[in-house]
This record gives sequence, C-alpha cells and structure tokens, in this order.
Amino acid sequence: MADRLYVFDTTLRDGEQVPGCQLNTIEKIQVAKALETLGVDVIEAGFPISSPGDFNSVVEISKAVTWPTICALTRSVQKDIDVAAEALQYAKRKRIHTGIGTSESHIKYKFNSTPEEILERAVAAVKYARRFVDDVEFYCEDAGRTDNEYLARVVEAVIKAGATVVNIPDTTGYCLPVEYGEKIKYLFDHVDGIDKAIISSHCHNDLGMATANTISGVMNGVRQVEVTINGIGERAGNTSLEEVAMILKCHKHLGIDTNINTQKIASTSRLVSNLMNMPVQPNKAIVGKNAFAHSSGIHQDGVLKNLQTYEIMNPKDVGIDDNAIVLTARSGRAAVRHRLSVLGVEVDGDKLNTIYEAFLRLADQKKEICDDDLLMLAGQERTSAHHIKLEYLQTTSGVGVTPVAIIGLNIAGEKFEATASGNGPVDAAVKALKKIIDRKMELKELLIQAITRGSDDACKVHVQVETEGVIYYGFAANTDIVSATIDAYIDAINKFKN
Ligand code: KIV
Ligand code: ZN
Repeated sequence: MADRLYVFDTTLRDGEQVPGCQLNTIEKIQVAKALETLGVDVIEAGFPISSPGDFNSVVEISKAVTWPTICALTRSVQKDIDVAAEALQYAKRKRIHTGIGTSESHIKYKFNSTPEEILERAVAAVKYARRFVDDVEFYCEDAGRTDNEYLARVVEAVIKAGATVVNIPDTTGYCLPVEYGEKIKYLFDHVDGIDKAIISSHCHNDLGMATANTISGVMNGVRQVEVTINGIGERAGNTSLEEVAMILKCHKHLGIDTNINTQKIASTSRLVSNLMNMPVQPNKAIVGKNAFAHSSGIHQDGVLKNLQTYEIMNPKDVGIDDNAIVLTARSGRAAVRHRLSVLGVEVDGDKLNTIYEAFLRLADQKKEICDDDLLMLAGQERTSAHHIKLEYLQTTSGVGVTPVAIIGLNIAGEKFEATASGNGPVDAAVKALKKIIDRKMELKELLIQAITRGSDDACKVHVQVETEGVIYYGFAANTDIVSATIDAYIDAINKFKN
C-alpha cells in the first residue's frame, strides 16, 4: 500500500505575506473552502499575534472549514501561543505551529543567544503550546543552514516535549536537493523517537529548487509537505502544491499518495491568482497557460498521432477542460453562476446581478466570454465598494495629434473632472487623475496582459504606486487598455492607508 503524504497549505500565511497579495477575511474564507474541496489536510490560516486581521481570519476560517486541521503560526513566545490558542477556539481540528531559528546566524544575530538557550526556549514553547492543543508543530527556522548535529538535538528535544510534527524549513532556499534529502536522512538516522512525530518539509524557491528539495525530502522520509497554490510566497515563493501533487501522481513508483483531488487544481489556481492579483507565469508547470500548449510543428504532429508522445499528464487530470462552455450575450444568469461555480467562485443574489450586468456589457463588446473573462468580472465586483471611482474617461490620441484625456471621478459621492495632455493616452490620463488626487505618488510599475487573444480582448493591468515610501498594488481589467490602467491606478489609491 502507498504511504500517505499530508499536504499542509500555507497560501494564507506564507503566501499571503507577499506585498500586494493581502486578502480580506471573506476572500480568505473563499480560498480556505477551495483548499478544503481540493483535499488539503492542513490549512495554515495565519499568524494571529501579527495583526487583528490575521487573528480574525483564523477565527473565521476555523468556523467555515470542517475537515482540514486549522493551523496558526507563533514564535516561541508565550503571548503568541496564548493568542493563537484563542484564535483557534472554533476549529474542529486545531494545531499550533511554533518555532525558532536554529542556524548559527539566527542564534547569533537574530537572537543574540546561544544554542543551549535556544534549545530551552524551543522545548518550553512546545510544552506551553501542548497545554492548549494536542497537535503541536515545531519549526526549526533556517534548518537548511543549520548544522545537522545541532538540528538533530533540537528535533529530538521537541519531540520529547510533545511536538507531533517537526518542520525542517529551508527558509532561504539555499539547499541543493541532495543536501536537503541527506539532512532528512541524517535526522532519521540520529534522532531517538523520530517515529513519534511526522517530519515536514517547508522549502523556499530562491534558487528555483523548492519542489526538487521537497521531493528529495519525501524520498528520505518526509511525510508532510508545506506548500502554496501557484508556489506563491515571499521573494521567489514556496514549493507549489500542484507540482508536488502531480509529481507524485506521475511517479506512482515512489509509492506515495496524497488526498489531493487533482481535478480541482486549475480552478483553485485561478481563484488564488485572481483574488491575490498575482498573475501566473505562462510557462509555470501544471497551471501556466502554456503548460499543455504544443506549438512546435513536430510536437503538434506527435500529439495528434498519440497524446503520449509529448504529454506526461492529461490536462483533464488537473481540471483543464477543453470543452469548457463559451458564454455569449445570450447566456443566462444561471449559466454564468454555474460556470463561476465550476471555477471555484460562488456568487448569488446582488453579487450575481452585478456580475451578470457586467457580463452582458462585456458580451456586447466581445463575441465569446471565456473563463478568464468571467473571473475578471468576478474580481471587478470586489472593487465596487471603493470610495474613489472612475466615472468616465475620454482620450484622444493618434498620429499627428497631442494626446489628451478628460477624466471624471466620483470621490465618496462628490464629482470631479480634469483634463490633461501627455506623451500618450495613458500618460495624459494619469496626469489628469493627478490633477484631482493631489498628493505625491509615483507609478513604479505597469504590467499589461491580454487575457485571451484577439483585438476585442479584455486586458489585465497590474500597477505599483508609491506614496510616502510605501508601495501599493492595484489591479483592473477592461477591454480598453487606458481605462484598465487608470482603474488599476485608482484601485491602488483606494488602498492608501492615509
Ligand atoms: O520559511 C520559514 O522558515 C517559515 C517558518 C516560519 C515556518 O515560514
Ligand atoms: Zn516560509
């Protein structure tokens, strides 16, 4: 019988630490429910002491989710553990994830401490957390660069203190796959009582080796993997859930099974990408737009003769449906609702009405509405509560004319208009916008992506706007590139803290 590998998803904790990817509690619940449907075993729902928002999200996700264990992160600090235990009060299955840095540099520079003192703090934290919950996971931060002998002492001590899971993070993404695997093997060979706990991997992708390191860990005894959807996470991200799940499915000879329903991968990936405004790179393994697209003649010829010539997985196994219904202006509300539900977005009532109206407007401009268009419309609905709204935008541009923009804004019910010229329609529109929003701000990055193809296509725009030394992220989508850009700019402005 295959060995069971537990999947611990940290999209809502490590993934959500990415600047600009913050979700509100309602959106987090949506992601948590999608993760439950996907079949993850553990959802790391947040770091409750870090902010009231994180605390509240752990509370609400605990209430909303039934099967997965809900996990809350802490440092090895009693107050953190008290707050995490309180946040987890409604969870049907709960886990506290506590830990401390164990590498020489963390001990010396981060804690100005000694290995013995750190060991004592680790044991004390686990014992304290066990007062509140039966399931305590301990992380040895920067384990990737921790001396193996010392790491083994820490792991042994925390298991003795009551840790049920021990996490060996490669926090900086430094390890080579062979080194990470050897580290895990070393622990299995040298830690007394290691069979009393599950050993977990948590690999970052700074050198592009997160998934390889995770699989190397699994091949050496890891039985829980810490992953995120689309591999999102700080810096270059975390190990991606979909890659690990599909590697184990494609390499059955490894004899390891997960509870992941792989057919839910594509919809969960889209949901996270849309809610977090984080585009998936087209060549991303498993979930990128091009992951199953064969463009070279030789490949197309082979695939047409027999899929196995160039395909190691069936796109249907990850939930990519070639026969997805294309919606048109004649499609009804029920069809839109059904398609959104297939894509992992549940809408009803007023929300559905707003999306349906936007759908009809878009369907008037575009013959066929595809999944990405629908997700874009669902995403737009989220921004309808903004206090600054774009009422109208008119631009004149072309060869031999000075580009000019007239913009109308509604700011908390009051109407404003401004006109400006620029070196192009976007520049003119931004200048007009700045005449109304009179504060120092600078467009730091502008990314424009077509959603599908064709001149009637909608495009997605991501912007980064800096004000008072803080970067804010904005997103919008529209069939008009200039409107989408200004809407994205306004989305960022609406997030300004003061
Ligand atoms: O990367 C890391 O070490 C972490 C820990 C807090 C688990 O995210
Ligand atoms: Zn991490």
